[in-house]
This record gives sequence, structure tokens and C-alpha cells, in this order.
Amino acid sequence: MQERHEIHFLLNGQLVSLPDVGASQTLLDFLRINRRLTGSKEGCAEGDCGACTVLVGRLAAGVLRYEAVNACIRFLATLDGCHVVTIEHLRGSGGGLHPVQQAMVDFHGSQCGFCTPGFIMSLYALWMEVPEPSPAQVETAISGQSLPLYRV
Ligand code: FES
Repeated sequence: MQERHEIHFLLNGQLVSLPDVGASQTLLDFLRINRRLTGSKEGCAEGDCGACTVLVGRLAAGVLRYEAVNACIRFLATLDGCHVVTIEHLRGSGGGLHPVQQAMVDFHGSQCGFCTPGFIMSLYALWMEVPEPSPAQVETAISGQSLPLYRV
């Protein structure tokens, strides 16, 4: 097997190639510092609050499946071959708000707004699998419990 010193992944649909990724560099730092994608927030920085939630897609049995992950505790080096989707990439079919974002507006779901992108990405992951979820499914999706992988 040939040794490689760089990783390749998609970030919001664009190919990213990175040489010599540090073993402890987090996805959140890469997004916010290197790519200026500051929609994903750092709250606790230890995987508890969900303000940093993004989606990570990976091929599984020939199907691209997505899961909501905490970018603050996900190491960048683990993303080789993945598709990372951030809040900046989310939009509706006409280019406006995605239905999840619109529901957040319509039902006054945001308070100060700091963690709202994380809530939306968790709900987006649920919406991909269950477009009309029950209240219990919504609560599970935003509770931080481990979520199943979703297809697109
Ligand atoms: S910043 Fe709180 S879970 Fe990542």
C-alpha cells in the first residue's frame, strides 16, 4: 500500500486537498480559521452543546450517508474521502431558506442565535431522513444523542 501525506475531501461540494494535517487539528478550527466558515460556532469545545454541528457524509455500501457531528471534537485527519456540509451550504430549492431554516423563523425557534446553526444542522440531518418528523424525533435529533446515518 502506498503511503500518502495528504487528505482529500469535499467541503460544501468543493474538493479540498490538504497536506500534512496535524493529528490534533479539529474540523471546527479548520472551518472557522482556515476557511472563514464561521457559521459553525464554538461554544463548549468539548462535544456537549452542539453549536458546532455540521454534517459529514461517507460512502457506506455504495450509498452516500450523512450524520450530524460535533466539529469541535472531530479531527480533520479523519475526513479523508468524506463530504463535509456546513450551515453556509444550506438553502432551499429556490435559493432561499431551506424548509428547516424557514421553520426556525416561523416558529421563533432561535433565541440569541449563537447556537442556532447547530440546531439547524441537526434538524437538517433529521429532515433528510424524515421530512415530517414527530416531536419526539425532533427532540432526539437535537438532544445530542447519537443519530443514525442519513441518506441523500
Ligand atoms: S462547541 Fe459545543 S459541541 Fe462543539
